[in-house]
Amino acid sequence: MSAPRVVPATPDAVAEAGRLIRAGRLVAFPTETVYGLGCDATDDRAVALVFAAKGRPEFNPVIVHVGGREDAARLARFDARADALAAAFWPGALTLVLPRTENCPVSLLATAGLDTIALRAPSHLIARALIAATARPIAAPSANRSGKVSPTTAAHVAESLGEEVALILDGGPCPLGLESTVLDLVGAAPTILRPGAVTEEAIAAVAGPLAQHEDRARPAAPGMLARHYATRLPLRLAAREVRPGEALLAFGPDAPTGAPLTLNLSPSGNLIEAAANLFAMMRTLDRPGLTGIAVMPIPEAGLGRAINDRLRRAAAPG
Ligand code: TXA
Ligand code: MG
Repeated sequence: MSAPRVVPATPDAVAEAGRLIRAGRLVAFPTETVYGLGCDATDDRAVALVFAAKGRPEFNPVIVHVGGREDAARLARFDARADALAAAFWPGALTLVLPRTENCPVSLLATAGLDTIALRAPSHLIARALIAATARPIAAPSANRSGKVSPTTAAHVAESLGEEVALILDGGPCPLGLESTVLDLVGAAPTILRPGAVTEEAIAAVAGPLAQHEDRARPAAPGMLARHYATRLPLRLAAREVRPGEALLAFGPDAPTGAPLTLNLSPSGNLIEAAANLFAMMRTLDRPGLTGIAVMPIPEAGLGRAINDRLRRAAAPG
């Protein structure tokens, strides 16, 4: 498998990427959360190529990226609550799951045959420029092989995906480093299906009290597999000491010493910094010759909830 072409995301490269997507090809691009593997969301064949490139189970629907609320109107039915959330958080790292409109042009494969659709207007300037250049909704899961750690740099994408990707737009590291929050607005109370870069507290301030989707073992929300974001080495969570042969993923100022390899998510204990570092550090520590990765406890509040969600999935038995 030869490596895909990685190019700096200049205006010319973005224009070329838009033409490639319109021609049914796959393009990886940066967003403020993680890199996405994008295609024309209205093209069934292109969406099928995305599933194949990721090795993704087909029951797992993908997020459709739009320029904003206006583009989204053709694709999904917005009620007052959805409007308020889009006004508050778009463009940004909140994905809204809404009923598909009857004439929604998005591939049924992209929404895995559901009558709902997950929509997000990313804030990253390159993602926005690409959506504008393509002038179509872009279906884009994270640009990693299914079940593996999400990519936060163009190099991560190039490592894990091959020549099925026509182009990788390099826009540097993703500023947030953690996927969007997926919020279901179809049920009676808004429900977080996947905690992410927008905190529950921030959403509740706009939408009122939320129901939490707690059953992590069963993919009631399609694609919420217990084991995901996996490293090859086993993760040991809430570790306060390092065992022989373990690398250490530390957090905060009081990291234990003695690990052969230590990276600190945030020496000052800042959760935003920790989220941005999480996936890249998991990749760096996932080296042969070690017995596992000890992960220090992360507070279960705000962004810490999303970080712990990813760590728990990565640590779940395969
Ligand atoms: O930050 C992000 O969200 C990144 C960037 C590229 O936008 N995308 C991303 O996509 O993480 P993906 O495909 O790796 O994760 C999408 C999540 C999955 O957990 C999927 O099950 C859920 O969203 N999802 C998508 N459509 C859904 C739907 N109609 N109903 C319920 N869940 C849905
Ligand atoms: Mg993903």
